Amino acid sequence: MKLFFLLVCLFIERGTPLCQKCFPSDFLWGTATSSYQIEGAWNISDKGENIWDWFVHTYPENITNQGNGDIASDFYHHYEEDIDLMANLSAQVYRMSLSWARILPNGKRDYISEEGVNFYKTIFEKLRSKNIEPVVTIYHWELPMTMHELGGWVNPEMADYFADYASVCYELFGSYVKYWVTVNEPYMQCIQGYGSGIHAPGITDTGVADYQCLYAQLLAHAKAYHIYNDTFKATQNGTVGIALVSQWYEPLTDSEEDKLAVERGMQWMWGLQMNPIIYGNWPQIVIDRIGNFSIAQGLNSSRLPEITQKDTALIKGSFDFVGLNYYTTFYASAMTENISDISYNSDRGIIQSSDKNWVLGANTWLHDVPSGLRKILKWISINYRSPRILITENGWSDLPEVVNDTERINYIQGHTCSLLQAKYVDQVDVFGYIYWSLTNSFEWKTGYSEGFGLIQIDFNSPNRTRTPRASYYYYKNLIETNCLKHCAFR
Ligand code: NOJ
Repeated sequence: MKLFFLLVCLFIERGTPLCQKCFPSDFLWGTATSSYQIEGAWNISDKGENIWDWFVHTYPENITNQGNGDIASDFYHHYEEDIDLMANLSAQVYRMSLSWARILPNGKRDYISEEGVNFYKTIFEKLRSKNIEPVVTIYHWELPMTMHELGGWVNPEMADYFADYASVCYELFGSYVKYWVTVNEPYMQCIQGYGSGIHAPGITDTGVADYQCLYAQLLAHAKAYHIYNDTFKATQNGTVGIALVSQWYEPLTDSEEDKLAVERGMQWMWGLQMNPIIYGNWPQIVIDRIGNFSIAQGLNSSRLPEITQKDTALIKGSFDFVGLNYYTTFYASAMTENISDISYNSDRGIIQSSDKNWVLGANTWLHDVPSGLRKILKWISINYRSPRILITENGWSDLPEVVNDTERINYIQGHTCSLLQAKYVDQVDVFGYIYWSLTNSFEWKTGYSEGFGLIQIDFNSPNRTRTPRASYYYYKNLIETNCLKHCAFR
């Protein structure tokens, strides 16, 4: 049946309703980047140092080929070119992030950098001149060092410092912004920055600090959300969300154990971030399991911090929309319990694996599994009260030198088709798709050894020459037609 559909659609002209499927006319299309990954100019003027500056300079060996973001794609000096490339793509939105220490060099609002503020105002003006709406992430992993020295994200007070910083952003840039994203992927920064330590700030306290960090970041998000609602929304009329990452999991076998492993996989990733925002608390399965393990490990209380009633009231319902960063799918199977091991991995208790038929990108984890996007969207919609969803990231990584990037085109085609199916067949409330990323950029731990960009960058040339890849033109056509040629509904 599937093959029949495919064959029919392959030979039928565009415009045949059976095969060509269109997005609603107000659907938002765009691309994303983040400040540390592209800007460079790490120590220009009075910009403060942040944890990524510090991490890559202190432990260069932690990054593939000792890469760092000192210059990156030098967006600081090439923003005009990049915004022109976005405009030529016909993109309606651009998801970008602000560098906290570029705006507030010592992290606090008592000293605001004029040069930092002017830089972002120039970007906003340029975007406005091209009719591109910014989707602005206030925090994408680059905590000022001064804040790190105060304890970073294991200090619950960080939520107040962040809220202060967010209110400075609203004051300064609110007239330009209709879509705010408070925090990018609390999960990744907390699990990798405070748990396994492979990301800045490199803290290795898995099963403890990672959960504390999640609490602080969710609280930070909620405070920033309320400040906007209470003080700025009436005049600025924008919306506030958060960008959460999640994989989708499939059971490795039909066994009950593997189905339970899937449930844990989802709850220890998506649930840890989203459950408090919708229901005011961690998922019950997470509370119970970590609580029981903690007692068996001889602790007096759970390693998972209890969310206070006051904070529940702040966190619950703190969003206008939810950003989903979806990249890939894994199989999950049950891991043998090892109570002596205090770690996020043991708490979660799953083994991840992949299908040998799934196409693999240029890293160890990214397989092209578009069906996962549709499934996770439906699952979120059913289990989290049908939130309004923006795809804040979805993207494919290949080797930096590839220009004829057929795999990326396949990935985008497959995932946008899944998105349409989720929207029209499953009735998921999704209102936009933002591809990660506009250009190749500093990919954290793997440096410049892989690239997600629609545009390739020559990182060896001082000019950082930009070359649009084949996928750039594919995506441009998709945005301009607003329709997919081959996307059967089922
Ligand atoms: C998620 C992060 O937000 C972004 O910074 C990163 O580059 C992409 N995923 C790809 O790994």
